[in-house]
Amino acid sequence: MLAFIGLTLRAATRATDASEAPATAPWWKHAVVYQIYPRSFKDTNGDGIGDLNGITAKLDYMKSLGIDAIWLNPCYPSPQVDTGYDISDYKSIDPQYGTLADFDRLVSEARKRDIRVLMDLVLLHTSDQHPWFAESRSSRTNPKADWYVWKDGKPNGQPPNNWKSFDDKDDSAWTYDPRRKQYYYHIFRRSQPGLNWRNPEVRKAMFDVARFWLDRGVAGFRLDAMAYLYEDSELRDNPPYPNDNKFDAIAFGKYTWNLPEGHEVMRELRSLVDSYPGDRVLIGETDANSTESLVGMYGKNLDEIQLPMNFGLFWVKLSPQLRQQIAAWDHNAAGGWPLYFFSNHDFPRSYTRLGDGTHNDQIAKVVAALLLTLRGTPIIYYGEEIGMSEASEKSIRDGMVRTGKVVQPPWDNRAGARTPMQWDEGANSGFSEARPWLPIPDSFRTHNVASESSDPDSILNVYRRLLALRRSHPALLQDELIFVNKEDPSVLSYLRKNSDGGPSVLVALNMTDQAHIVSFDLSAQELRNAKAKTLLSTQQGEAAPDLAHISLPPFGLYIAEVQ
Ligand code: GLC
Ligand code: CA
Repeated sequence: MLAFIGLTLRAATRATDASEAPATAPWWKHAVVYQIYPRSFKDTNGDGIGDLNGITAKLDYMKSLGIDAIWLNPCYPSPQVDTGYDISDYKSIDPQYGTLADFDRLVSEARKRDIRVLMDLVLLHTSDQHPWFAESRSSRTNPKADWYVWKDGKPNGQPPNNWKSFDDKDDSAWTYDPRRKQYYYHIFRRSQPGLNWRNPEVRKAMFDVARFWLDRGVAGFRLDAMAYLYEDSELRDNPPYPNDNKFDAIAFGKYTWNLPEGHEVMRELRSLVDSYPGDRVLIGETDANSTESLVGMYGKNLDEIQLPMNFGLFWVKLSPQLRQQIAAWDHNAAGGWPLYFFSNHDFPRSYTRLGDGTHNDQIAKVVAALLLTLRGTPIIYYGEEIGMSEASEKSIRDGMVRTGKVVQPPWDNRAGARTPMQWDEGANSGFSEARPWLPIPDSFRTHNVASESSDPDSILNVYRRLLALRRSHPALLQDELIFVNKEDPSVLSYLRKNSDGGPSVLVALNMTDQAHIVSFDLSAQELRNAKAKTLLSTQQGEAAPDLAHISLPPFGLYIAEVQ
């Protein structure tokens, strides 16, 4: 939901924690995470809605793809006003998606295939249909009266202060409740009342929720909207935001974003996951408006979130200039392990966002190579591996009219990135036997798992090969990232230098629509007479190419082993 400014991270001096040998490093440093939007992955009971059994049914696909963990968007009981980010029961599964038994089966089937399961944890707010809120709003004196942030309005009938929300219908972050005759605070929709984290009972209840899922075997959490847990205890007005971007003003309010108390919770949560065996992990949706605040999410002693999301690197344009931003994230001041992702459920899909309209398939392969060969943990958003495109709002509305389905919640304007997975060319793209909850974009005819599986040059097969390369080339997992040909305005090139004297990996990505010839001299990297062996190339390249003369077509990619 949140917009992010293009952060330019300053390169820091401190080294990152790259020294751990692959065998001893925690699993999540080498893992590839696959994000699944449960509603749109695979429907097994013919209601047009994806379900947990559908995810279980597709575990072999994920295994063959080569991913190591899945992160599920929320599948808890919910009125689905914000497709599951409005939770009405934290310790169950929404019947639309299945049962707790289905969930347990998913975890155990995944485990058999060495795939871990991560849940989405929404600590900031509940649904207004949650029994906690029903009780809290019933009076000013009930036992849960203080579980949410309640406040009297101003004498002139105005909300308590000037805080704004992301709710598109209502600018204010306060909604009046006629029964309690008070306002409650919500930085998101009015149907998502914010929990009062200053109340120790709330903290206890939410930590119980985390334990509930950890006990069931989840490998960790993706923490939703982590920067907003606390707001100013005196509820002071936010001062005007320095730029006039309305979104930034809401996202980064002085008294509503990134308060120190939130970091305490992150540390406590981290201790909680650390108390479980198996290196459980916290991925954070960590909105930040500065280098310091983003890097601060790792914690001063790397004791908060292991994998904060850097939305500054999400909102990039493909250009070799990226090297500065990547280098800064790679060497961040906290020494934290980098996380990379270019698509998710809130923003237009990378295929469309980064595509130029002409070379989209080729660009998708460049994005794949970048995502999977940088030093860090990548997240692939379901369908990204087959080049699923963003469905336009118009095509979704038209599709709904065509099929007679009324446009109503849980549809919202982020639906373009949430359309059903495109499994094959058959009816409803193999997603469901019934009319799917969202129309399938026409691109399913060309971009689907079945047809791409049989095309060696498909986007899907490039993903497969890149994922296999990560397994066969330890240098790709954690060894140093060194940019080469640093002045090249068109081709982004880097070396993943093997620290044990084994083969290193050279990556060259043409980020323009023009062909280029690149020449590598790796003598500065102690690879004076480097012998190269092509691993992956857009051109039918030579097996043992001349590094002084690598030719790259428009948006071409070239990956080689060098020794
Ligand atoms: C996060 C989620 C988004 C949701 C919001 C409110 O930004 O990614 O989908 O609407 O939090 O929970
Ligand atoms: Ca279903």
